[in-house]
Amino acid sequence: MSDVYPVDAAFAAQANTTREALARAEAQAGQEPDAFWAGVARRLDWYRFPTVIKDVSFDLKDFRIRWYADGELNASVNCLDRHLDTHGDKVALICEPDDPAAPVRRLTYRELHARVCQLGNALRNLGVGKGDRVTIYLPMIPEAVVAMLACARIGAVHSVVFGGFAPQSIADRIADCASKLIITADEGLRGGRKVPLKANVDEALKLPGTNSVETVLVVRHTGAAVPMQMPRDRWFDAVVDIQPRTCEPERMNAEDPLFILYTSGSTGKPKGVLHTTGGYLAWASHTHALVFDIKPDDVYWCTADVGWVTGHSYIVYGPLANACTQVLFEGVPNHPDVSRFWQVVDRHRVSVFYTAPTAIRALMREGEAPVKRTSRASLRLLGSVGEPINPEAWRWYYEVVGEGRCPIVDTWWQTETGGILISPIPGVTALKPGSATRPLPGIRAALVDANGVQLDGACEGNLVLLDSWPGQMRTVYGDHQRFIDTYFKTYPGTYFTGDGCRRDADGDYWITGRVDDVINVSGHRIGTAEVESALVAHPKVAEAAVVGFPHDIKGQGIYAYVTLVAGEQESEALRAELVAWVRHEIGPIATPDAIQFAPALPKTRSGKIMRRILRKIAENAPEQLGDTSTLADPSVVDALVRARPA
Ligand code: PRX
Repeated sequence: MSDVYPVDAAFAAQANTTREALARAEAQAGQEPDAFWAGVARRLDWYRFPTVIKDVSFDLKDFRIRWYADGELNASVNCLDRHLDTHGDKVALICEPDDPAAPVRRLTYRELHARVCQLGNALRNLGVGKGDRVTIYLPMIPEAVVAMLACARIGAVHSVVFGGFAPQSIADRIADCASKLIITADEGLRGGRKVPLKANVDEALKLPGTNSVETVLVVRHTGAAVPMQMPRDRWFDAVVDIQPRTCEPERMNAEDPLFILYTSGSTGKPKGVLHTTGGYLAWASHTHALVFDIKPDDVYWCTADVGWVTGHSYIVYGPLANACTQVLFEGVPNHPDVSRFWQVVDRHRVSVFYTAPTAIRALMREGEAPVKRTSRASLRLLGSVGEPINPEAWRWYYEVVGEGRCPIVDTWWQTETGGILISPIPGVTALKPGSATRPLPGIRAALVDANGVQLDGACEGNLVLLDSWPGQMRTVYGDHQRFIDTYFKTYPGTYFTGDGCRRDADGDYWITGRVDDVINVSGHRIGTAEVESALVAHPKVAEAAVVGFPHDIKGQGIYAYVTLVAGEQESEALRAELVAWVRHEIGPIATPDAIQFAPALPKTRSGKIMRRILRKIAENAPEQLGDTSTLADPSVVDALVRARPA
């Protein structure tokens, strides 16, 4: 039996949603879906409100996903202009720098609007227009938000690349969508360390496939001297400051693309997840208000980076569409010390706080004292995202950080889903540590067995969605077939999430993790195939196989088996060289935690690597290896078990 934390009466008394309202929403979503989904769309301001609400078929013969298809709107107008009369002087962004002694910048909605307009004009002058792609490679500074919204204003499609990616990864993402322009900064700052963003862009642009790029706008952030290549490179301020502070927004169709965000899958290169304007924005705004119980005077803080989907939906689009005041944090949880999160909470009187289990586990290891020396009295609601939160970390978050006063919303979703699909509703749902509890109204989740047969009641299986929701991705950029093959072929008629899940007797969902070859490292997806192809690109590596293994802080770590080219010697130095190589090829987020030299890999007679066996060896559970008789050479396994590093 798991613990249950009943709804807190004090929280429920002030919550936006009541049990009755939630039940009504669920009933309406079932009985009058168009009315329900039109209600979600009504959160936004439209030039033309849609008359067609939902137009969806997951049937492969007649496949389509379209929401609000004849609606017209602009996302930046929804995040800015429509707030100006009522909330123009409200602070939109409180920019907390990496160094707590550096000045805090605050931007009101009016100021943010003006800057977005200026950049929108500058982009147009540089020849960027509706449908063009713009790559954004910036630290967590307000210009990142400005850049995304300026693209949205002029109908350009942004592709944000996380600042932790290396030049090759940047180049791959530029090449895939043929971006015309890049917005970057001289350097980033993380925990006092400098990140050479402009230098990485320079390297990326020397790589093949990147000559679509005409202009690089460079934000002066640390003031470091960076080489500027004229006429390609331009200082952001010089180009933007001279522009008018109003900019005619592009009238966009609801199904026009808003952004591309690359994410790892089980095969091949990362895929460009494409989200469109109307459905995505409506879902981000609706779920942000519902799940975080947002009130006009909240100070909201999501610690994600805008390089990930959490930053797109729950830093930029959801909160700004909802006229929220939020903290934008440039730094890391342990700099200058491990109290930093809670110092920032106190400094800006944060009321709603949203972070990842990996951060909680890392801070939990430091004990209660660094938390207890802060007040945190302003906090009223806590959130978790990105990976399963283990019950021990959940309880620590609840008891120590939230002093037993703040509900925790454990929000399950994906880059592909655009916004939260499974989560408690604070003030309504009883909480269970480790469970994301229930699908939101309108979300038709189900569990299926390996044959696609739907399971009832308490059970464990693969998590699928039987029907669409407005925030669903529409395609893989440039490869619609890959979209269909990846998500809709495994269990026909459904969207397959790639996650395993258990449902308990109360109907609550417990995500158990990925069932495909995607590793979730600190809440970030890494495809095993990506790390493998980086490793085999090294001249001394003949073959590589990568699996995930349990890691105390990161959730999962990266374990690589490497077969060397004949004649090459195993050594500690080579091990270190390979780790550095992967960091250089993909970026620090893909750093292998363990490398095991493997004279041979376990393969079936048809030559397929048996990853199941490699996972068990990496987990140090050789007793669970199971049947190895189908292997071409079963003795390979014994050799790997014996040679496993301690
Ligand atoms: O495995 C699930 C896990 O993260 C995956 C999605 O990763 P990404 O697209 O990078 O988006 C992360 C932020 C939404 C999912 O397939 N995941 C996400 N949230 C949870 C989770 N696993 C368990 N519980 C969660 N709350």
